[in-house]
Amino acid sequence: MEIQDPNVNQITSSLPREKWCGHEFLYQYNGFWFTQTYFQSTQRVVENFKPLPTDVILASFPKTGTTWLKALLHSITNRSSKETTPSSLTFNHPQELIPSLETKLYVNEIQSNGTESGVIKDPKNTRVLGTHIPYQILVDILNSSDCKIVYVTRNPKDTLISLWHFVQKAKSVEQEPWELEIAVEQFCKGVLPFGPYYEHVLAYREQSMKRPEKVFFVSYEELKEDSKNCVKKIAEFLGCPFEGENEEEEEVEQIVKSCSFEILSEHEVNKSSDLPNGFPLPYSSFFRKGEVGDHLNYLDDEMIRKIDDITREKFHGSGFMYGI
Ligand code: A3P
Repeated sequence: MEIQDPNVNQITSSLPREKWCGHEFLYQYNGFWFTQTYFQSTQRVVENFKPLPTDVILASFPKTGTTWLKALLHSITNRSSKETTPSSLTFNHPQELIPSLETKLYVNEIQSNGTESGVIKDPKNTRVLGTHIPYQILVDILNSSDCKIVYVTRNPKDTLISLWHFVQKAKSVEQEPWELEIAVEQFCKGVLPFGPYYEHVLAYREQSMKRPEKVFFVSYEELKEDSKNCVKKIAEFLGCPFEGENEEEEEVEQIVKSCSFEILSEHEVNKSSDLPNGFPLPYSSFFRKGEVGDHLNYLDDEMIRKIDDITREKFHGSGFMYGI
């Protein structure tokens, strides 16, 4: 259920609106679509969030591997505190270890820069924060800070199928199922929370090419294919490389294993049907199958053709040969 705020209703009522699924509407702001709740929290982020130069922002479009990256980034940046890292992943959901700006820290009226939430224990430590907010909307904030950004993307068809499954778990959608044909159409039109997907991905990718020291761009498929190499590259990018042959191999292997779908999805906290604070879906909904190419089990040839056409136009047309 959306939180009704009369002030924001006034603002959203002037924005273009489209029906999404269940009883949800999306509102278009600066070319991107938001639920009312996330429109409000995004406004708060834009008005109040000031990243520290030591911050790492994990940016992603929903369902592209955010939870996995949260576990990996937590493990990479906290690996010196050996006694806490593996057990923190055992007892804490990655979404709790690395809170997101718009879905957690700024979701309520109380403005928080992360300090109140206990995210910063020691300001000298790296703070990792997640966000699905498009680069185009955070541009001033991100460009005025020395913070680093890790962006994860995923095959558009797998992203859509993951989102389609995820959304079905919401109570509001159970009564009015989100038909796959409609989901495909909305995906192609970009009418999804934080969508359009393509513009979201392309903007962060462009930044990663312009400023590779600031933005690290990785795909879900690369991570699956060679997790160890990706973990090493991320650690180097963050300025905390693995050193020494032994540390490199053993520690990297340990991190990859403890963050694997197989291990993470078996922890009680990640199987829990409890709802995270302020979020309408259970902790378990962030772990489904964790595979590459699952869209083939759901999309028919016509749906695939529709999405591939847009992928060719948007990605390949911009020189990004990805997603088909
Ligand atoms: P599927 O629905 O295809 O299984 P996000 O974290 O951005 O919401 O993305 C969720 C997707 O990542 C889901 O994909 C989920 O199963 C998958 N996922 C979660 N943890 C993972 C992990 N450790 N390794 C690989 N995939 C993972």
